[in-house]
Amino acid sequence: MSDAPIGVFDSGVGGLTVARAILDQLPNERILYVGDTAHSPYGPKPIADVRRYALEVLDDMVDAGVKLLVIACNTASAAMFRDARERFTQGHGIPVVEVIQPAVRAAVRKTRNKRIGVIGTEGTIRSGAYEDAFIADPDLQVLTQACPRFVEFVESGITSGEELFQVAEEYLAPLKSSDIDTLVLGCTHYPLMAAALQYVMGRGVALVSSAEETAFDVYRVLVRHGMLRRDQTPPRHLFEATGADKEHFLRLAHRFLGPEVNRVETFETGA
Ligand code: SIN
Repeated sequence: MSDAPIGVFDSGVGGLTVARAILDQLPNERILYVGDTAHSPYGPKPIADVRRYALEVLDDMVDAGVKLLVIACNTASAAMFRDARERFTQGHGIPVVEVIQPAVRAAVRKTRNKRIGVIGTEGTIRSGAYEDAFIADPDLQVLTQACPRFVEFVESGITSGEELFQVAEEYLAPLKSSDIDTLVLGCTHYPLMAAALQYVMGRGVALVSSAEETAFDVYRVLVRHGMLRRDQTPPRHLFEATGADKEHFLRLAHRFLGPEVNRVETFETGA
């Protein structure tokens, strides 16, 4: 089992930011990455639909033999993390790691003035998952803002330009005027446009992405459970997508994750 891959799941290419951090921290591990591009984006969809799509793909990833699941998608984490833990950890002994708690921990460590902004998809912001996660510290002021078009920009490979800056200025204006000193990128797609977000917010605001902190969680779980890969042969990774346009996914994945992605297969789900 320890030589089985880590399953990393997202609606599209955003979870590659988390996969990149896992590969950096755990270079001997194998990764099976699945982007549910057939149903992407998750952000505007009803939570019940996101839960169903995500659980279906995770079921198939478990059938494919992963040793640990990473829900590298905020919208899916907000919609079904508890269901996933019940189904896969309690049901099959497969640990599940998600991205909201790691981002919250990192933001709490970073803020000086206790004013934290959170941006995410409509689904994530509507779910209240970040407010719930920050509730332990009543001194914190948390301001949330849905940024529905950001995923579309990233999935189109657009990370700069007039239109993006204009939309970003509009979404981020309420946060800029609220004196936040920390901004949580509450969608795994957003680190792929971090430079644009930093440019619009200004250098005084610290951006927090969950990727590295999530990789630390993965590391901790594997070490604690004695699940690190023992085989010392170079690991082979698999990158798969549920949708038809694999070429587009491959181009973006190659650009955003790097040379480890040299082909993308179709992930058969819902069979
Ligand atoms: C989306 O599919 O709309 C974004 C995924 C995320 O929330 O990380």
